[in-house]
Amino acid sequence: MLSLSFLAVVYGTQGLDCSEDQGTWDYVKYLDEVSAVNPLPREGREMLYNLYKSWGSPRSPRQLQPQNLAKCASGVASVLLHVLPYVDRDDGEAAALELWHSAKDVARHADGSEGWSVNFTLHNAAPKLLGLDPSVDAEICTQPGHPWFFVYTTKPEYASPLLTCAAGMEGSETLLHRWLLRSRCRTESPDDADFFYVPFYSFCFQNLHMKAGSEAEELDKHNIELVKSLEHFDVYRRRQHIFHFAHEFWDFPSWEAHVGRSKIFAIEANPLVDARRYRPYRHCTTCFDSWKDAVVPGHTDLWAMQRLREQSRPIEERRYRFCFHGALRHELYEKTHAGGPFNVSAAETRRQIRAMAGEPDASIGPHITPVLDYYKRVGDCQFCLVPKGVGFTNGRLFEAFFSGCIPVILSDAMIVPFFSFVPWPEFSLKVPMGDVAGAVSRLRSMPSATLKRMQESLHANACWFDYYSNDPTCSPYQGLLRVLQMQRSTPWEIRPAPLHWA
Ligand SMILES: *[C@@H]1O[C@H](CO)[C@@H](O)[C@H](O)[C@H]1NC(C)=O
Ligand SMILES: *[C@@H]1O[C@H](CO)[C@@H](O)[C@H](O)[C@H]1NC(C)=O
Repeated sequence: MLSLSFLAVVYGTQGLDCSEDQGTWDYVKYLDEVSAVNPLPREGREMLYNLYKSWGSPRSPRQLQPQNLAKCASGVASVLLHVLPYVDRDDGEAAALELWHSAKDVARHADGSEGWSVNFTLHNAAPKLLGLDPSVDAEICTQPGHPWFFVYTTKPEYASPLLTCAAGMEGSETLLHRWLLRSRCRTESPDDADFFYVPFYSFCFQNLHMKAGSEAEELDKHNIELVKSLEHFDVYRRRQHIFHFAHEFWDFPSWEAHVGRSKIFAIEANPLVDARRYRPYRHCTTCFDSWKDAVVPGHTDLWAMQRLREQSRPIEERRYRFCFHGALRHELYEKTHAGGPFNVSAAETRRQIRAMAGEPDASIGPHITPVLDYYKRVGDCQFCLVPKGVGFTNGRLFEAFFSGCIPVILSDAMIVPFFSFVPWPEFSLKVPMGDVAGAVSRLRSMPSATLKRMQESLHANACWFDYYSNDPTCSPYQGLLRVLQMQRSTPWEIRPAPLHWA
């Protein structure tokens, strides 16, 4: 990598111009190309941020004088787009949005002499998240009698920085909160509220602010203090309060004592329990209550969703019958136990998967990088194995919807979202995690007409898992509202999912 001293910087009283040496611009172009196939590593982004700061951190088009930038417009626009999460973190969301407009403006002035141009579709999560093109509201919120949500304002560091926290499976904690803030289901009057939403991006918060080792105690303290601060959390209304846990651990170890009566929105319905007290680690299979709690779909980044969709091939053209690429060993795969009947370990399932490597119709192995190559591979697989990891739920499941790769769930205690109204058995298999060979012979015997039908259903139902869905009748938001409605008015329709289906 080039060091920063290489980056000769020119930002005089005339504003930024294009007189940086060619090496700088070549390097920016190189990083931009990398970012099309793999999220930029932190060093790359930090280097671009240092370059940006050396320009005096211009925010608006006027500061930038885009007409002076015709010869380096793609380079400048690319830098501005890549530093958006840092600007959001350091200067706030309004500054980030302004900068996004500047990038657009600068790019328009390109004179073509650079020989490349920045591709805005690779960066379109930021404007969506920043509110320029927000997710559509759920249909339920447009209907009479819809539920009303009061959204608490918690400490700023609990609910930001937006662009950093809206990433990965745990990004649901950010997306759902931001959607609620804009929804017609929101009320600012606690007296009208049916539900009280408590935003705390606890997964993101611990990554940004805590040292490894003491997270459990620290998060417990933050959560207890947070609950104490909630103005409407009284004996009557605590049942209407919603707490969102987006991680395999519910990041509030003493949740039961403090919010046990409240609604839990969780990605993992059988969370790992405080590692300090229980070794080897234990899953709690009685924490989740389907009559009051809801399973939230894991979040897939827009960048990943788009790349996965581009690589998705028709089922009959796919080369591999089944695939798995990921970690085959991990200390926690051996050490996490759920107790009977869930006593097969993740390590055992992954051992059995590894034993299938080398089969002519399988692609099995470690992680593939750059990630675009991984997406190409899963786009070339008919079935994707989704084995238990540290948690029963994992992000692989949600990727499958966008890659069109039929998921084969090998994670016995996984509780999938929305089982009561999304036809899971039409587009997936859930088979005993202790018998990978049995699962494989099952899916090898499936006729191609069935595969085609399953893939069509997978595509048709992907919107339930798409946090950027443009369909008001089908999105994670609409799904969660339906769950709440069923719990309130038609609880007999809440169907517990069977352990397996195939
Ligand atoms: C930008 O990227 C998208 C997604 O990869 C691609 O479909 C499109 O053709 C690209 N546009 C240009 C101008 O290269
Ligand atoms: C796993 O659980 C089942 C049912 O609870 C039990 O019959 C079986 O003996 C257990 N197996 C092991 C290896 O613990």
